[in-house]
Amino acid sequence: MNKKISTAKKVLMLKVVIHLAAFLPLFNLYYLAFNDLLGADPVERVIHFTGIGAFNLLLVTLTISPIAKKFKQGYLLQVRRLLGLYAFSYAFMHVLNFLAFDLQFAWWLFFNEIVKRPYITIGMLAFVLVAALAITSLNSLKRKMGKSWQNLHNFSYLIVVLVSIHFYWSVKSELISPLFYFLLTIILLSFRYKKIKVLLGSLFSKRQS
Ligand code: HEM
Repeated sequence: MNKKISTAKKVLMLKVVIHLAAFLPLFNLYYLAFNDLLGADPVERVIHFTGIGAFNLLLVTLTISPIAKKFKQGYLLQVRRLLGLYAFSYAFMHVLNFLAFDLQFAWWLFFNEIVKRPYITIGMLAFVLVAALAITSLNSLKRKMGKSWQNLHNFSYLIVVLVSIHFYWSVKSELISPLFYFLLTIILLSFRYKKIKVLLGSLFSKRQS
């Protein structure tokens, strides 16, 4: 009983920390933006901050399971959904900022960018997948989807690869940060080497049959 309460407390405390660490920087960003305190290129700053924020949160979400396994801290898995939802929220703001501040809600330009610029096409594919994972994270949908829920959520591995490419392709000069993030992505995926091998194996065997 005591152990149960202390686990519930740990999860609650972690959730509070995640809310503070994820929500406050976003709030601060828009406070600075709307008070004209973001320097010479506020649009670039906002797109950069939300893009990197979303990527960081996706990577932290993927780190949870190897850490929980290694240190036998199963309760950590209970905060994965919250982290994933914050990753989606940052990604949503990233796309919204691009649409609102870069394109002034010109939808035809938005679709044109998605079709014409490969880095935006890849980003959009990642975003659609992140949105699908966020929507299906609802418990009721999880229950209804059964085994296909896990199949869909395995796409999180593809998402981080797509975002790495999107990041690398989007930068014009400085390549150190995208390469660093690419390395982090490879390290995190290497912990799932066996699972990814099985997934790829079953994908190719399905295509051949
Ligand atoms: C899960 C989805 C996505 C994530 C995690 C993500 C992340 C990122 C990251 C990390 C950067 C580099 C930031 C920088 O160094 O300035 C970036 C840049 C950018 N992304 Fe995304 N992105 C996503 C989807 C999208 C989508 C769907 C669009 C547009 C439809 C988009 C538009 C842009 C633009 C315009 C830039 C800035 C390129 C520049 O500097 O000119 N992103 N994104």
